[in-house]
Amino acid sequence: MLNLIIFGPPGAGKGTQAIKLAEKYELIHLSTGDILRKELSSATALGVEAQKFMDEGELVPDEIVVGMIKKCIEENEDAKGFIFDGFPRTTAQAGSLDAMLEEKKMPIKAVLFLEVEQEELKTRLLNRGKDSGRTDDKDEEIIANRLAVYLSETSPLLEFYEKEEKLQTIHGMGEVEEIFVRLSEVVETLDEEKSECCSNEDESEKSEDYEETEETEEEKCECDDSYVNVYVEIGDVKITNGRLNIEIGDFELKKGDVKVRLGEFELDGADVKIEIGDFEFED
Ligand code: AP5
Repeated sequence: MLNLIIFGPPGAGKGTQAIKLAEKYELIHLSTGDILRKELSSATALGVEAQKFMDEGELVPDEIVVGMIKKCIEENEDAKGFIFDGFPRTTAQAGSLDAMLEEKKMPIKAVLFLEVEQEELKTRLLNRGKDSGRTDDKDEEIIANRLAVYLSETSPLLEFYEKEEKLQTIHGMGEVEEIFVRLSEVVETLDEEKSECCSNEDESEKSEDYEETEETEEEKCECDDSYVNVYVEIGDVKITNGRLNIEIGDFELKKGDVKVRLGEFELDGADVKIEIGDFEFED
């Protein structure tokens, strides 16, 4: 699954490029701005609530956008991947997105950051404001506020994704098509990394000296969607008097590892019962 975030300030070209990337790589394009504008034009309760924030160039509250994204992900579980456009925009949103994707075992592969000069951003937005229905593009003060909100609330995420080694910075000045070529080159590198990783995995599995380390286990997990690692770790237990029941359910895995580690038990007159269910592996 290829999950991407297209990132950048207002006017960076996120929407323009996300549509093209979604088409080329068969991804679902999730734009929080577009979803909100749709709600607004249908005058739903959500749209009415969001309008007052959007008109001022402020961010719509996290719980509203996180709920919208969650719903869209759940409605498209069989997708080849998602391209998130305009989301996340706060650290809280980034945390929620990570949690949602972690739960579904489909992490973000890369964050594509479009770097564009400030003056160019303003020019693009004001140009669009001349003939589009977007009220937030018509007023220089609102545009200035959107850029300031980006700087204070959204740009700190760059550091967050850099630390996660997911940040890819792309020069966002120039013609739409040339920027798209730059983005596509980055996306294709991501695919190459994936196949290299898978071919390494095959070699290491053949090697007699092969020792399984945490790192290689992670690689396996990323390379092969059907490969599942299950870790159950129960820490040290100290009971003076009582009963300890640990029950771990049945595992049915197509391909993967199950590792159960039980810590040290220090018991004094206590009963311990550990039950681990059936394991069924295809591979
Ligand atoms: P949203 O719709 O996301 O607006 P934005 O981030 O301000 O982004 P834009 O759509 O203005 O810019 P873009 O980077 O997508 O560029 P685009 O391709 O459109 O959000 C609107 C509002 O909704 C927010 O202010 C907020 O209130 C709310 N909201 C949305 N998401 C939220 C969230 N997660 N949390 C809270 N609130 C949220 O291009 C811009 C223009 O430039 C176009 O006219 C395009 O044709 C032109 N252009 C693009 N590329 C080029 C190029 N290379 N050369 C010349 N022109 C170009």
